[in-house]
This record gives sequence, C-alpha cells and structure tokens, in this order.
Amino acid sequence: MMISFVWAEDKNQIIGVDGHLPWKLPNDMKRFKDVTTGHPIVMGRKTYESFPNGPLPNRLNIVISKNSDYQVPETVALLTDKSQLKQYVQADEEVMVIGGEGIFKLFSDDVDRLYVTKIDHEFVGDTKMVKIDYKKFNLIEKKEGLMDDKNIYPYTFETYQRIK
Ligand SMILES: NC(=O)c1ccc[n+]([C@@H]2O[C@H](COP(=O)([O-])OP(=O)(O)OC[C@H]3O[C@@H](n4cnc5c(N)ncnc54)[C@H](OP(=O)(O)O)[C@@H]3O)[C@@H](O)[C@H]2O)c1
Repeated sequence: MMISFVWAEDKNQIIGVDGHLPWKLPNDMKRFKDVTTGHPIVMGRKTYESFPNGPLPNRLNIVISKNSDYQVPETVALLTDKSQLKQYVQADEEVMVIGGEGIFKLFSDDVDRLYVTKIDHEFVGDTKMVKIDYKKFNLIEKKEGLMDDKNIYPYTFETYQRIK
C-alpha cells in the first residue's frame, strides 16, 4: 500500500486549535475532498470527533484509538495499532493519512506522498504538524490557491513524492 499525508498548515506548521481547524478556507475543503474521495482515510480519534456530521462519505473512514471499546458506526473501521491497517486496505491502494499530530508521527517513516496546503498566515493554535524532512522528497506539483471573499488567506497546494 502507498501512504500519503493530506493536511493544511499555517506559516508556523499550526494545524489545529480547540479540536477544530484554525481557519475557514472552503477551497481547501474542496481540495481535501477531491484528493481523498475514493481512498481510505486514516485519522486519530480526535480528528474523527472533529467532523460535525460524522464519518466522511464515499471513503472508508479508519479511526485509530488506544481504546478498543471506542464506539464507531459499522461502516467505520477502528484500529488500536497501525499493524491492523492491512486488514482494511488493498495492497494497491493509496491510503490517505489525515492527522492529527500523533497519527502523522506514527506514519512519518512510511509516508510516500505529501499533499500539503500551505497557508501564508499566522494563526493561534495548539496542534502542530510533525517535522517533515523535505530533503527526502521531490516537489511534483505546486498550485497557487485562488482568493476571494470566502477564501481570504493566501495559500498554495503542494504535492511531494518521496525520493526512492
Ligand atoms: N490542518 C489539518 O490538516 C488537520 C488535520 C487533522 C487534524 N487537525 C486538527 O488537529 C486537531 C486534532 O489532532 P490531535 O493531534 O489533537 O489528535 P488526533 O491525532 O486526531 O487524535 C489523537 C488520538 O488518536 C489516538 N492515537 C494517537 N496515536 C495513537 C497510537 N499510536 N495508537 C493508538 N491510538 C493513537 C488516541 O486516541 P484515544 O485517546 O482514543 O486513545 C489519541 O488521543 C484538531 O484541532 C483538528 O482540527 C488539523
């Protein structure tokens, strides 16, 4: 299986505050949907609980918790260890790891591809992205984000591939 990270960060690698995203950026939500739909998504229990409407549609939601009694709907997979991941994903699948911090850390040696939205603004936050060693990756795509009255921060979408 191929492991990818999908996240958005600010200038200081902040990714979260009080259990939610520090910003409103609908164009990034759309990008997240486009990148992850049709792929299994892997997330920590807190990120799962941050979704206002429950599991995200049209992709297998895989939640990681230390609590094996954590209750999830039938359609959602619960893991207590990353070694269980292969029970839920096909060998040829691209698995989208979507955070938060501990989950990115857990997979940082395994990650092949990075889909990062870099927001050129400083937010107040309590959760940070793990350090990425960008020397081990090639930038394969970069796109300036469009700004408008609903997307008020400058941002870019970048995709990196691990150098073999
Ligand atoms: N900007 C972005 O792209 C982005 C992406 C994702 C999340 N976020 C933000 O980040 C915040 C949430 O992230 P977070 O880092 O606080 O929490 P998180 O990673 O989503 O969830 C943490 C929980 O995951 C479980 N966990 C973590 N490591 C584990 C391991 N090795 N084995 C088993 N279970 C493990 C534990 O659950 P139990 O306590 O149940 O054992 C832990 O409490 C929110 O503010 C969210 O909005 C932002």
